[in-house]
Amino acid sequence: MSGNNYASPIESILHEGRVFAPSEEFRARALMNDPAEYERLWRESIEEPDAFWSRVASELHWFQPWQKTLEWDCPWVKWFSGGQLNLSYNCLDRHVASARRNKAAIIWEGEPGEIRTFTYQQLLTEVEKFAGVLKRLGVQKGDRVAIYMGMAPELPIAMLACARIGAPHSVIFGGFSASALVDRIHDCQATLVITQDGSFRKGTEVKLFPVVEEALKACPAVQSVVVLRRTGTPIEMQAGRDYWWHELMATAKPGTRAEPLESEHPLFILYTSGSTGKPKGVLHTTGGYSVGTYLTTKWVFDLKEDDIYWCTADIGWVTGHSYILYGPLQCGATVLMYEGAPNHPQLDRFWDIIERHRVNILYTAPTAIRTFIKWGDEHPNAHDLSSLRLLGTVGEPINPEAWMWYREVIGKNRCPIVDTWWQTETGHMMLAPVPGVVPTKPGSATRPMPGVLAEIVDKDGNVVPDGQGGFLVIRRPWPGMLRTIYGDPQRYVEQYWSQIPGSYFTGDGAHRDKDGYFWIMGRVDDVINVSGHRLSTMEVESALVSHPAVAEAAVVGRPDEVKGQGIVAFVSLNHEHREAGMLPGLKEELRKWVSKEIGSLARPDEIRFTEILPKTRSGKIMRRLLREIASGGEIKGDVTTLEDFSVLARLKEEE
Ligand code: WT7
Repeated sequence: MSGNNYASPIESILHEGRVFAPSEEFRARALMNDPAEYERLWRESIEEPDAFWSRVASELHWFQPWQKTLEWDCPWVKWFSGGQLNLSYNCLDRHVASARRNKAAIIWEGEPGEIRTFTYQQLLTEVEKFAGVLKRLGVQKGDRVAIYMGMAPELPIAMLACARIGAPHSVIFGGFSASALVDRIHDCQATLVITQDGSFRKGTEVKLFPVVEEALKACPAVQSVVVLRRTGTPIEMQAGRDYWWHELMATAKPGTRAEPLESEHPLFILYTSGSTGKPKGVLHTTGGYSVGTYLTTKWVFDLKEDDIYWCTADIGWVTGHSYILYGPLQCGATVLMYEGAPNHPQLDRFWDIIERHRVNILYTAPTAIRTFIKWGDEHPNAHDLSSLRLLGTVGEPINPEAWMWYREVIGKNRCPIVDTWWQTETGHMMLAPVPGVVPTKPGSATRPMPGVLAEIVDKDGNVVPDGQGGFLVIRRPWPGMLRTIYGDPQRYVEQYWSQIPGSYFTGDGAHRDKDGYFWIMGRVDDVINVSGHRLSTMEVESALVSHPAVAEAAVVGRPDEVKGQGIVAFVSLNHEHREAGMLPGLKEELRKWVSKEIGSLARPDEIRFTEILPKTRSGKIMRRLLREIASGGEIKGDVTTLEDFSVLARLKEEE
């Protein structure tokens, strides 16, 4: 973590005075619509967490009731100890035993336009069969399964099948490269990989199997690969290792029961970027994660039995895990799932989907909203969006202008907007409005959810006065919190629990206003947020440095109108390559190199060659200065620790 950010006070500059209460129409129908009642429940969740969480947990099915709601030995936590449950059971079997049996669980739309609907019964049957397939391939309780797929309905089927037999899954976003795949498969020691030939995006094929094929050259521990046929492109399979999904399923029988699992049984590992290079395998376990995603889905989305709910995230990110799959299915919702891009075949695809499926709840990201603004109002305006009743956003701070556009152009001033702050590590929403009772303000994720004791503190952990910027911390354990970093408990302790001893350190700067509303100001560490996707500057730097021409690299974020942050890389070349630096071709080559090393989401927007990087006397790259240069601003603040003052002048010249 860069020391510089810690020393500099975070200033809050945003002044936003607008407040929007839910309409009377929305409020009257909302599940939670009495502010005094919500206040009472919130207080109970803090003062008597056992009572509060026990009541929520008892809405789910437990094979064995828990004995202790919470055991807390900071930073090690156990929720619902002694209890046994299965998340696949709570998502499927529980509903199949009720009137929801024939309700649509997933309505899937492929990018080319086909639609497939799975009722709860049908989904259960598929999951039971695939769970049987996994067992037949030798997967046992506790074994890790890596999943590298596009947004096919078989992806949630695979995840639910893993959860059913207690095999933790690690879903790897389909945009990651072979070497990113190798790192993750190695780290979690997966023995089976589930993938597909390819996926459709923007009318072309994103190849997936060939990436796995390449990765597996470096992953000898992987014994089998299950391949879903989606695009039909011929692929070469390796006998004895690779199997077609449809062939395995053709002879599979339903009936694989949901294994009763200890509450703390590992559910999944999801890799995310930290402030050092190596991605962190965030580990979530069964009981607490189930209860936390269940409650937040129900309350924040105000889910009704007849809603069609659409979260536009990719399941490869935590948003998809918690709010396409596990939260909504535990609630018995109807989830819409879309495979492809928002601009295929035309710029109005999302609005067309909303109109045709009569979507009621839309959950998307600020970067998408800003893109839609750029594309023009005529696209949403050409469609009937009157089915929408609630809008949500997640992934990064939303600027008030984008928030207002979302409200006016998409929500027609009728739909509350839930801005939800949370992280891969938190598992579920932490700051968010419950829309029938909490008025919203453009740009604020409003207030902590029940059970969440959030505070803004200075670097010594003292609460700062309202209105003053500081670090966002969480003072108490919550059900869906990460349990550790897979294989690296030390890093878990250092990363989250050592900055402010006894508190969970989020890595975000924020301030709280006089009404108790939280305003997130972005990361305070070396993590950048590109289109709502977290990247570590170190990760991009190490990819650059692995290129033979590069001696040293420093990567920073700069504000980007659409993506939130763009990536600027300052690169110094090896001596023998200095001349090559004059060739514009090398910049493009390096951008491609990073795509290949990590994935296209990490491709730098700009590369600047420089002879030397600004460093402190102790040799640390001064990213703060580079950030200022990259944003085109004046160099402000303290430069007294800079080792060589002439560097600054030279960096400016090279712009
Ligand atoms: C980081 C977590 C949670 C799923 C998507 C990202 C930023 C997330 C908000 C929001 C302001 C937000 C934070 C956070 N962030 N949601 N509503 N307002 N900032 O998950 O990759 O784990 O990233 O995203 O900086 O720390 P993630």
